[in-house]
Amino acid sequence: ASALDVDISKVPLGSEIRVLIGGKPFFIRHRTPAEITAAENVNIATLRDPQTDDERLRPMQDGKLNRAILITSGACTHLGCVPVGPAQGNTGEYGGWYCPCHGSQYDTSGRIRKGPAPSNLPVPNYTYVSATVVNIS
Ligand code: FES
Repeated sequence: ASALDVDISKVPLGSEIRVLIGGKPFFIRHRTPAEITAAENVNIATLRDPQTDDERLRPMQDGKLNRAILITSGACTHLGCVPVGPAQGNTGEYGGWYCPCHGSQYDTSGRIRKGPAPSNLPVPNYTYVSATVVNIS
């Protein structure tokens, strides 16, 4: 098993950084207030893989959620392509990520909204080591 400490203070607002852990891609996204609001305002009854935005976040050391930072797998749940996102200047139809392989569209919580992918971008195991460092495994 591999793990990586990531300094989330280095992730630009409105964009993301991409890391490989054990050869697998992960996205660390610094969401804008509008992106957070969009994620929270989705009626989850309409979702293919229903999850609230809060369910996709892990608490900081003080027990609170840092809603600005979203961490997901970077492998499309259809056939594993790496979607494009703010790092490539294309966040797709729902403001999150877009998979160019077969057109899956993910929202600002990394939830599948359209296209062939069956499920949301998985949230990896991660913990806040400090206010600004997360350990992803
Ligand atoms: Fe992403 Fe097929 S691998 S849509």
